[in-house]
Amino acid sequence: MDISDIKTIEHDVIVLGAGGAGLRAAIECSMHGLSTGLVCKSLLGKAHTVMAEGGVAAALGNVDSRDNWKVHFRDTMRGGKFLNNWRMAELHAKEAPDRVRELEEWGAVFDRTKTGLINQRNFGGHRYPRLAHVGDRTGLEIIRTLQDHGIHQGIDVYMECTGLDLLKDGDRISGMVAMWRETGEFVIFKSKAVILATGGGGKAWKITSNSWEYTGDGYGMAYEAGAELMDMEFTQFHPTGMVWPPSVRGTLVTEGVRGEGGILVNSEGKRFMFDNIPDRFAPETADTEDETARWLEGDKEARRPPELLTRDVVARAIRKEVKAGRGSPHGGAFLDIASRRSAEDIQKKLPSMYHQFKVLAELDITEEPMEVGPTLHYFMGGVRVDSDSQMTCVPGLFAAGECAAGVHGANRLGGNSLSDLLVCGKLAGEGAVKYLESNKDEINLDENRAREIIRAATDILNRESGENPYLIHEDLQETMQSNVGIVRDDELLTLGISGIDKLWNKFKNVKADGASQFNPGWHQAIALRNLLITSEAVAKAARLRQESRGAHTRVDYEGERDEWLKVNVVIKKSPDGTMSVEKVERGSPDPELERIANLSIEELEEEVQREAGQP
Ligand code: FUM
Repeated sequence: MDISDIKTIEHDVIVLGAGGAGLRAAIECSMHGLSTGLVCKSLLGKAHTVMAEGGVAAALGNVDSRDNWKVHFRDTMRGGKFLNNWRMAELHAKEAPDRVRELEEWGAVFDRTKTGLINQRNFGGHRYPRLAHVGDRTGLEIIRTLQDHGIHQGIDVYMECTGLDLLKDGDRISGMVAMWRETGEFVIFKSKAVILATGGGGKAWKITSNSWEYTGDGYGMAYEAGAELMDMEFTQFHPTGMVWPPSVRGTLVTEGVRGEGGILVNSEGKRFMFDNIPDRFAPETADTEDETARWLEGDKEARRPPELLTRDVVARAIRKEVKAGRGSPHGGAFLDIASRRSAEDIQKKLPSMYHQFKVLAELDITEEPMEVGPTLHYFMGGVRVDSDSQMTCVPGLFAAGECAAGVHGANRLGGNSLSDLLVCGKLAGEGAVKYLESNKDEINLDENRAREIIRAATDILNRESGENPYLIHEDLQETMQSNVGIVRDDELLTLGISGIDKLWNKFKNVKADGASQFNPGWHQAIALRNLLITSEAVAKAARLRQESRGAHTRVDYEGERDEWLKVNVVIKKSPDGTMSVEKVERGSPDPELERIANLSIEELEEEVQREAGQP
């Protein structure tokens, strides 16, 4: 194969993935005068960012003036069970308000308070109403705004183009081989920097809020290029996905429903979250109906309802009700907003949820409760990056958004994904700009490696016979759902890992029928490599971590263990091609950040008021 026959497109930076993180990173690069190519395997704007419906978390203090970056930081660390990268959580909390205001300047139309400020709503784990929102379509509005801004700034967009693997010149990045989905033709992107913003890998599970694009491509490509993955065991099950009808099982029901006062009830009509308040959150959580009613009426002294505990806690509580035979008819719990808010309020605040249930489930949520259950939603782990530049250990390779690890620790608070992708997307762009400033010498394309990448893809079509990619994917989803779910133990995880091993063997002989022009079976087969790397990483990290922390629950190792707070689980490809999974010391936190995170809420509120010059 003559590589000179393959079209080569050259840019200073290639951003892979056009969700919020990719768009924000690309905007930063092009704002600094870099020639920027944005490559996405779907259509521009079709990204998991839109699945963060309820809002973007930022301590603007518009609805409760007591809010401040320190309180947001403390909430994020506590939500993440202190496993977050301290510096990343600090940058995230400090910079989120500016990123939201910047979006507004770029044209985002947020909901307003009565006095004309950006409105903010309550969400799980956030001390104050903190989520700037656009009804229940916040992610969509953010994507629309970033898209408009980026396009007018001159970013070159390459849609329906799948990134296959990265190219290196020696140790450093030199580009990527990709494939046009429509024609099946290959293309080489030559660039000194690549920013991965491919989101997570939810499609490895059967019940997920993720759509077809989320196959862990960034994880697979980074791993193959020698970068590290970190904390992959922490996969978030959003407590409220649709459970009925089967065709839409897993579709997200925004946490905004609970933020607007929705309550969770079992088949006996009991509000079971009162029985599931962890000690750590007890001082800040209402434990009576009466107090939650006062909270709903806006009493600032009332504590938050237990339905707004962190997602890991709520997901486990729903699972417990179902296991105890107190679930809803289709294996979930009831989420009731109808009895808490007027029909007019519901339609105004939650228009997408109203339509979603009307159209997909023939149910009027202003009159009846919804049936909901946990759905795989988000990866807290991901590619290991430097906290300030978002660069991986491979020079020139960056990652941001869900694709990268660090901000959220063991569990992410709702709304922190949108702020993460804005803050860290910008940081990754800045990181790439700085990297290019100090790396001016020419790069060469490794033609042999490009040939290898293309051959691995075409082999799938050229085999005489082989394994069906759809069946491998279906088996993988069953394996992950049954063995690497909300609740784990050594036996299940070992079973999961041996299931994944078997699927790797099948994958070696995967075969797609038909030609290279738009061939979904071929695309599925290509995605399988990344899904398998992602699944193996999650299962092996989960087996290594012998404790329960945040979204990672081990019934054979209950509770958090101090020794595990000191380490991250880091994964990389060994020289012999096997997956190495190791504990790596985290190092000590900055003492000032540690102090803030450990203050009681009363102490912190007092400190914030004092700093603001209030009595
Ligand atoms: O429930 C939601 O609206 C999701 C938000 C998020 O994942 O941040």
